[in-house]
Amino acid sequence: MLDVVVLVSGGGTNLQAIIDGVESGSITNTRITGVISNNKNAYALERAKKHGVRNQCISPKDFASRDEFNERFIEVIDEWKPDLIVLAGFLVVIPPAMIERYRNRIVNIHPSLIPSFCGTGFYGLKVHEAALERGVKVVGATVHFVDEGTDTGPIILQKAVEVEAGDTPEILQKRVMQQAEWKILPRAIDLIANGKVSVCDGKAVISQ
Ligand code: GRF
Repeated sequence: MLDVVVLVSGGGTNLQAIIDGVESGSITNTRITGVISNNKNAYALERAKKHGVRNQCISPKDFASRDEFNERFIEVIDEWKPDLIVLAGFLVVIPPAMIERYRNRIVNIHPSLIPSFCGTGFYGLKVHEAALERGVKVVGATVHFVDEGTDTGPIILQKAVEVEAGDTPEILQKRVMQQAEWKILPRAIDLIANGKVSVCDGKAVISQ
C-alpha cells in the first residue's frame, strides 16, 4: 500500500482527481494519508476535510525564517511517513534536505510539456499566457520527479492538448487540467503504487 501525502496551495482540483481515483479504484494500492497546504484558505483543504483526509496548514509566513519553516516542514512530513509526496499546485519551494531524503519519491504536476514553458516564473496562468503568446498549437501537462532544479526532474508521464481558436489563458488552463492533468497525475500515482516506475541514468522508465 502506497501512503501518499499531497501538498497543495490552491483550489485542489488535482487533489480531487487523486481522491476520486482512489475512491473509484482507478488508482490502486494507494491511500492518501494527509494533505498539507501553506495557504489556510486553500479550497483544497476543504476537499480533504470533505473526504475525511488528515490535513494541516503550515506556512513560511508563520516562521521567523525560511530555515525554521523548512525544519518544521520536514519534521511534519517525516512524522506522516509518506511513501510518496505529491505536489499538486504547491507553490512553496521544497527544501533541498527534503528532496535528498525523498529522492525520486516526490512528484509534481506541471501544466506544460516540459521543457517548454517551465522553470522559474512559469506557474499557473503564466504558463498558458506564455504558450498563447508564443502561438504554439499543442500544449499539455507533465508529471515528473522533483529534484533540486525547477521542473527539471525525470519526466514520468506527459499528455498533449490542442490549442483551439479563441483560447484565452483561462480556457486553455481548464482544458489542460481536464484533458491532461487530472488524467496523468492519477495514472502516475497508480504506476508508482504498483512498482512500475524506476529511474535509470536520470530518466524515468515505466515497465508495463
Ligand atoms: C494546476 O494547474 C497545476 O498544473 C499547477 O497548479 C495548478 C493547481 O491547480 N501546478 P489545483 O489546485 O490542483 O486546482
